[in-house]
Amino acid sequence: MLQRRTLLGQAGATLTTALLATGHSWAAPSPARAEGLNPSPFGEHPLLQPLRGWSDGQDRLAEGLRVQGRWPRELRGTLYRNGPGLLGRGGLRYRHWFDGDGLVQAWQLGPEALRHTARFVQTRKFSAEQEAGEFLVPAFGTLVPARRPVRGSDDMNTANTSVTVQGGRLYALWEGGSAHELDPQTLRTLGPKTWAPELRGMPFSAHPKREADGTLWNFGTFLGRLALYQIDAQGRLLRSRVLSLPTAAMVHDFVVTQRHLVFLLPPLGLDLEAARAGASMVSAMRWRADEAMRVVVIDKATLELQHTLEAPAGLVFHFGNAWDDGQGTIRLDYVQSDMDEFLSGRFNAVLEGAMAAHGAPSQARFMTLDLRQGRVSIAARSESTEFPQVDPRVVAQRYRYVYAPTQRGLADRWGFNAVQRLDLERGHTEVFDFGPDTVVEEHLLVPKPGSRREGEGWLLGTGFDARRQRSFAAVFDAEALSAGPLATVWLPYWVPLGFHGHFQRSA
Ligand SMILES: [Fe+2]
Repeated sequence: MLQRRTLLGQAGATLTTALLATGHSWAAPSPARAEGLNPSPFGEHPLLQPLRGWSDGQDRLAEGLRVQGRWPRELRGTLYRNGPGLLGRGGLRYRHWFDGDGLVQAWQLGPEALRHTARFVQTRKFSAEQEAGEFLVPAFGTLVPARRPVRGSDDMNTANTSVTVQGGRLYALWEGGSAHELDPQTLRTLGPKTWAPELRGMPFSAHPKREADGTLWNFGTFLGRLALYQIDAQGRLLRSRVLSLPTAAMVHDFVVTQRHLVFLLPPLGLDLEAARAGASMVSAMRWRADEAMRVVVIDKATLELQHTLEAPAGLVFHFGNAWDDGQGTIRLDYVQSDMDEFLSGRFNAVLEGAMAAHGAPSQARFMTLDLRQGRVSIAARSESTEFPQVDPRVVAQRYRYVYAPTQRGLADRWGFNAVQRLDLERGHTEVFDFGPDTVVEEHLLVPKPGSRREGEGWLLGTGFDARRQRSFAAVFDAEALSAGPLATVWLPYWVPLGFHGHFQRSA
């Protein structure tokens, strides 16, 4: 099953390192100087302060956290989170939020002894730059001249996107290269993870999917190829495979059903000429609006590409879930993002310290694939959401609820300020609005011990209160969201805004 020659030939060769190999000189003077590190000071808007990052690169620890409300007695464990925690060095700042170095947090939560730890992942990049006091290697959205050799994507790995725990081991994830293993207690970095010698340095995405039996599926994309991983509940690699995709595409997330793995390939290409001329990765991306979005369906049993369907062009970062009915129909949900927002630089304007307005909002989409007829249909909702989550017990199975941050009563304000539960059967939402001074991050569904019903659990997530200039974790009864948090845990500081997390229940 393992395609050894292909893996060895392509290991570590992501799109970025491919550019290096094709003669792209990261050290060349850029015709677009605005893509280089930003020398201007960060803005003072109180809502945007967590996007400054922690420029000292130092770890934080807080104990005896203040709890408002009543923490559920049976909810004990650690909420791990990850995100771009360091965005500036030596008075120069990255242009793009995705560029920052990974800062992993552990919120140790329970009725007592609440504690928060945050540590930067000691990637090769971070360690070298921390010592030098300046950025040394190229980033996704900022043109940084290489002052260190970049031989493979792990030389630029920021480990900044998500975290997961598999077989008792904690991993910081980044889609372009290796996962980094961390000590689950201390968050000390143990180093890049190699699942098999042939897979050294291969992309391992930040969005693995874990089925109810503990099986973990993941992927990585590079140069029009797709690496697939199946890992058992103990953390052992069961199978891997590298396939060719019908088109090269930026793929951030995917979904799993009982029988299939499903990928959406937006028509987002890379202009190699622009990249060679000195554009950053994000500026060299080109949207081919007249092309279809490919829907790639892979058979889990064989890891072979089984169907390729076409859907209208759309940019996708995140999925909620998917299931198949055993009769040739797959249903899935995802969030469609605004292409202009992503490519035009309005997205980056937030890092200029300005309160950027959204372009078109990111919105939920519901896709039905008829595999026998080769047809795709899509339904849409209009509210702005991102970072969708489902009950971990229904991953790859028929499901009813999707949980996501959303916006309520905001005009032209960046970020989310509310959380919602969408009931797919009834088509309505239940919402809690934190108010205009809060930025809400991803919220996870944690099942209550002994419960069997989907959605019977707590909704647990984090946010930032701009008036207090403090970050918090909030827990809701997931079946009574509009009643507000059962409890809120406050940090004595703010934490850089992050992307994704994982809750690990205490044994
Ligand atoms: Fe993501």
